[in-house]
Amino acid sequence: ARLDARNTFGVRAMAPMLVEATDAAALPELFGYAMLRDASALVLGGGSNLLFAGDAPGAVLALDTRRIDLLEDDGALAIVRADAGVVWHDFVLWTLGRGLSGLENLALIPGTVGAAPIQNIGAYGVEVREHVHAVEAFDRASGDFVRLATDACAFAYRDSLFKREPDRYVVTAVEFALPRAFQPRLGYAGIEDELRAMGVDGAPRASQVAEAVIRIRRRKLPDPAVTGNAGSFFKNPIVPAAQAEALLAEHPALPVFRGGDGDSRKLSAAWLIDACGWKGHRDGDAGVSAAHALVLVNHGHATGVQLLDLARRIAASVQERFGVAIEPEPRIVGATW
Ligand code: EPU
Repeated sequence: ARLDARNTFGVRAMAPMLVEATDAAALPELFGYAMLRDASALVLGGGSNLLFAGDAPGAVLALDTRRIDLLEDDGALAIVRADAGVVWHDFVLWTLGRGLSGLENLALIPGTVGAAPIQNIGAYGVEVREHVHAVEAFDRASGDFVRLATDACAFAYRDSLFKREPDRYVVTAVEFALPRAFQPRLGYAGIEDELRAMGVDGAPRASQVAEAVIRIRRRKLPDPAVTGNAGSFFKNPIVPAAQAEALLAEHPALPVFRGGDGDSRKLSAAWLIDACGWKGHRDGDAGVSAAHALVLVNHGHATGVQLLDLARRIAASVQERFGVAIEPEPRIVGATW
């Protein structure tokens, strides 16, 4: 099966077999088949956080499950369960349409609900873990369905239990806890300016914050439906506070954010890459977005290997110039970083 249309980079890739399941209840039986039981079988969501640097080594499984259910609602907090196959942005709009808040800053992130907890998607000062109530998954090791409460998911910046053990869990659904009372999170640079540009003054509604985020994203991030990309290609590196301070002394414009714990800081990978002159760079059809230095783009017929090669050269130049190692955010299939 061809996977070209199943990865947002739009690179050529093949799989020996593609299975699409419309009911998660079929998973125990499906994983009884040798081709899917094999560790090399890959579970694919929207293909928006993935780079095929080669063909899929084994069977590919996609979940095309679309239910959204309101499980509980006490008038203050609602618990909503969405199937893994639901398109993330459609789900955000569904919640906003029912007066539920919390996900507005995460509007327009490509991909599916099932993929959201895997790398703990985040944007504009909010990470999805803040609203994950539980994750339902099929455990390929035990052959059982499991339901993991948030604390069991080991969420961290663009990381989780599911990402650390990539061949173990198939996320089947996610339960979200969403408040009815809207508490705007406008701390991230640019959101308040955008609201003002939209003519919103005073307290915004959740749907207006979502609209502001959508406008910012449309301006800064290339649309994968037009130009192949997987969003941020690199994670923002987390370094010891002392190293961040030394870098800041030399490069006062470098954006430094709070890191994982007290003694670490998160640096802007985009700034480091931009400073090395990569923004807008192009080698054939493999390039760096001219709008955002963190986004690798496929201008047409780039291969996954060409994109990976460009990524490696970018990382090497950041390492050489700033002494900072940057790592890819997407999963790389067919090669190791
Ligand atoms: N910057 C540059 N050059 C650029 C772009 C940005 O120097 O070409 C600098 C600017 O100083 C800017 C700063 O980098 O203020 C931060 O840029 P931005 O606000 O775009 O955020 P980011 O750190 O680059 C992260 C996430 C994005 C998320 C945005 C907004 C990661 C790896 N990326 O990007 O997530 O949308 O914040 O919250 O954490 C993704 O994960 O795929 C993704 C797009």
